[in-house]
This record gives sequence, structure tokens and C-alpha cells, in this order.
Amino acid sequence: MLYDLMEMKKYLKENLSQKRYTHSLNVADECRKLALKYGEDSERAYLAGLLHDICKELPDTEQKRLAVESGFSVCREELETKSLWHAIAGAYFIKTHFGIEDIDVLNSVRFHTVGRAGMTRLEEIVYLGDLISADRDYKDVDKMRKISYTNLNEAMLEAFSFAVKSVVKKGGLIPICTAEGYNFYTRLHREEKSKK
Ligand SMILES: [Fe+2]
Ligand SMILES: [Fe+2]
Repeated sequence: MLYDLMEMKKYLKENLSQKRYTHSLNVADECRKLALKYGEDSERAYLAGLLHDICKELPDTEQKRLAVESGFSVCREELETKSLWHAIAGAYFIKTHFGIEDIDVLNSVRFHTVGRAGMTRLEEIVYLGDLISADRDYKDVDKMRKISYTNLNEAMLEAFSFAVKSVVKKGGLIPICTAEGYNFYTRLHREEKSKK
């Protein structure tokens, strides 16, 4: 790999809290493991996992500025939800700051919060790696860990259901791409079931 991982880790250490820096390293490790399990490039998975939250602790205004400046297509609900800005900003930041051009790595960072329909294997790995990393301890995390290593599509459907439910619970807005992602994996699940 041409990228300087040490430089990236140094940047993360200097710009994130200890807790989030540890989370980033854990997600990177988890993504590498998932990549090995599912035949994806483990170095790219590690890289995307490592960098996924790079902009999470920037001031909100800066995150939003980067998200808008990125030129990536962003739906209205994302712009109305502060907690989602860091993903769009992050993809743009690693492109401009570290020169990462790999579109799959960029999209894995970009969509790690909202997801979308038809995610690539790498995008799925980063989405799930973020949910099941070693530092996660929510109620059903062990169940989520187990299905992430047994059936990728099932795990994605479970993750989207979880995401939609928690947004509704908090009275938030469902980004269109999240709804599309949920529908995509629901259809996939139905198709798989009808083949059995
Ligand atoms: Fe994040
Ligand atoms: Fe994260």
C-alpha cells in the first residue's frame, strides 16, 4: 500500500479523544477480520475502518462546511442531522488531506453512518465493523457480532433495522438512502428465503 498508515494514526491520535482513537483502531481491526472472512482486500478494509470517524470531533460548523464543499450528493435529511456530517466530511477530508482516490474506500467512509442500497462488500464491512468493534457494548452486540461472521446480508438487514428503529425512537429523520438500504436488504432477504 502506498499510504502512510503511521502518518494517519499520528493525525488521528492528535485530533481525536483517546476513546475515539481506540474506537478507530478497533474498527480497523474488525474490518480487517471481516475482510479476511469475506474475501475483501484486508488492507483497504483496515484503512477505511481506521479513517471512518476522522472528522467526528471537528466543530459542527467545520464538519458541515466540509460536507457542503465536498460536492458529494447529500440528501436533505443528512444536512438536517448533525451526527451524520462527519461521514461526508471524513470522505472528503481523506481525499484532500491524504490523497486517497480509491472510490470504494471513500464511499465506505461516506456511507458508514447512513448506509445505502447496493453497498459494495467494502462498504458493508466498514458499516458492520463500526457496529461490532471491540469497544461496543450495547444490548445485542454479541448477536450482531455472530451474524456479521455468519451471513453478511442478514447482518446488514439487522443493522439497518436497528438503525431505522433507533432513529424513530429518537424522533429523528430517516435519510432517503437509509430507507433505500433497508428496503434493498429486505428484498434480498426475501429472495434468499424464497430460494430455500
Ligand atoms: Fe461515525
Ligand atoms: Fe465509528
